[in-house]
Amino acid sequence: MSDIAKQKAAEAALLLVQPDMILGLGTGSTAAIFVRLLAEKVKAGLKIVGTPTSEATDKLARALGIRVVSPDELERIDLTIDGADEFDPELNLIKGGGAALLREKIIAEASDRMVVITDPSKQVETLGRFPLPVEINPFGSELTRRRVHERLGWIGLEAATSSWRMATGESLLHTDGGHLILDLACGAIPDPAGLAAVLDDLPGVVEHGLFIGYADSVIVGEARGARIVAGS
Ligand code: A5P
Repeated sequence: MSDIAKQKAAEAALLLVQPDMILGLGTGSTAAIFVRLLAEKVKAGLKIVGTPTSEATDKLARALGIRVVSPDELERIDLTIDGADEFDPELNLIKGGGAALLREKIIAEASDRMVVITDPSKQVETLGRFPLPVEINPFGSELTRRRVHERLGWIGLEAATSSWRMATGESLLHTDGGHLILDLACGAIPDPAGLAAVLDDLPGVVEHGLFIGYADSVIVGEARGARIVAGS
């Protein structure tokens, strides 16, 4: 079901693409389906330019014949299509399950419009079932981890646990930018903006996976089609 739902969401997002758009290309399995569908349109003559949110998406888009440009060459991005790990009724998101949250947020922030594509399992009343990915500079990373937990205590999340994201075997995962990912199992996050604020303010935290006020809409794929969720 989940794969069909992702496909339906990606198909619906493709309808939003207009000729000559500059598109932010997201990361993850749902975004990859979108990139593949987009490439078919490009092969059929659609002219667009894509700016990818990860090395993996960059590689995929180029391999499929999509014209890819660096964000440095762009003034603005028309539309970004990306996946998410969770979204709530206000369209706050948790992202970063694919470790691309920093580039995803840079591209989302520079976009006129961000549309999220998901399967129904990502819809929650309150964020926090999915551990929150936090991108951390390797320098003093254990110190930063302790400071993160201290700050979680300030806002009532002292029971949170954390773990470093691993790559294969026993080595730590490094993001495209060379940082580490700390996965924070907070449980329910009643005040996503409050948590974002305490993390934003901490040196050593490069970025976090709370996307607050970024998504314009969410397309939720289902077995037979897709529905659009606008923020409440
Ligand atoms: C990548 O870092 C993430 O933000 C993804 O967009 C998110 O994990 C959703 O991925 P799937 O589409 O694979 O569920």
